[in-house]
Amino acid sequence: MPTRILVVGAGAIGAFFGSRLATLPQVLVSALCRSNYKVVNSNGFKVTSPNFGDYTFKPEYTFSSADHARQVTRKRKLTWDYLLVATKVLPEVSDGSRLLEGLVDDQTSIVLIQNGLGIEESYRKRFPRTTVLSGITMVSATQSSPGTVTHNRWTRLTLGPYVSNGNEAQGSVAEPSVATERTQAFVDMLGAGGIDAIAYPATSLQVLRWHKLAINAAINASSVLTGGGGNAAMAADTELNMHLRGVMNEVLSAGAMALGCETFPFEYLKLATPDQVLASVLKNTSGSRPSMWHDWAEGRKMELEAILGEPVRIARKLELETPRLQALYALLKMAQERRDNSTARL
Ligand SMILES: NC(=O)c1ccc[n+]([C@@H]2O[C@H](COP(=O)([O-])OP(=O)(O)OC[C@H]3O[C@@H](n4cnc5c(N)ncnc54)[C@H](OP(=O)(O)O)[C@@H]3O)[C@@H](O)[C@H]2O)c1
Repeated sequence: MPTRILVVGAGAIGAFFGSRLATLPQVLVSALCRSNYKVVNSNGFKVTSPNFGDYTFKPEYTFSSADHARQVTRKRKLTWDYLLVATKVLPEVSDGSRLLEGLVDDQTSIVLIQNGLGIEESYRKRFPRTTVLSGITMVSATQSSPGTVTHNRWTRLTLGPYVSNGNEAQGSVAEPSVATERTQAFVDMLGAGGIDAIAYPATSLQVLRWHKLAINAAINASSVLTGGGGNAAMAADTELNMHLRGVMNEVLSAGAMALGCETFPFEYLKLATPDQVLASVLKNTSGSRPSMWHDWAEGRKMELEAILGEPVRIARKLELETPRLQALYALLKMAQERRDNSTARL
């Protein structure tokens, strides 16, 4: 039997990873699209990559909506081994887990490849017996026009089982051993497709999630508030360098507390400290800007809740002050509100 994978949210990241999995024999990859449906249904995705060259990824099935996916799944009695979710995380717009209703059965695992914190819980609640795998990627990719995906650099993906509050809730979720097996199986498939994929235990994955979040919260939000400051340009500016380091330290302190550690466990997974992150950002002189800037500049919603709101709320519950982070969140939230609704509190 082939392994069937459905990419839910077939934009830059979903289509890129889907395209690598589709190169494997015995793996069939389908795509749940939205605005790119017509183009992808006719021509598939055109992918360009410095690692893998130029190629076309034609999904087995291309769906225009979740309802369309449900109808075909029912009619053809399809079973999805993996639902690879790579939508943007916008809980204030909709609960992404609802898209998966009618697509999950006993052998399905949900794989989330998304930035931010607390992204897993709505899937865990809606599908309590299904394995949920949490993924963080360093890949840089864009969908420059509908169906055209440019992979810019890096192929790193880290993946691990998701367990609520660090423990499996008794009797309500799939066996932890199954989640570990599924993590390894998915990582092996990605590895065979040329991706630098690594499996981690659940707690380590959350350490990595907080670490990536610290970088995203600092750099992404500051780029928007500086009117499109480039990563390296911001790191090179003395005042902004201090600000970026300050935000990262606040997020990492909250992360350490939330994870039950005295200080953030950099050494444990050989993670870069804020100083090392900034030194490395300074060296990347390609002029790149974070995706949150592109979302803002092109009038799309930013992933504010998952990247800024959630760590602010977690820190508040832990009675930890995060003034820099909270200020970024408050300012961007109102900027977005004002942009999206000209009658909002002016
Ligand atoms: N791109 C990167 O380099 C990168 C790197 C690291 C992490 N990430 C993270 O990866 C995640 C995905 O980012 P991305 O850059 O791939 O975003 P993206 O290019 O905007 O892709 C998201 C896709 O999901 C689709 N979608 C959203 N809601 C949907 C719905 N209800 N039904 C069907 N399709 C739906 C969107 O369709 P529409 O086009 O119609 O909106 C879009 O095609 C985010 O959490 C991001 O922070 C991205």
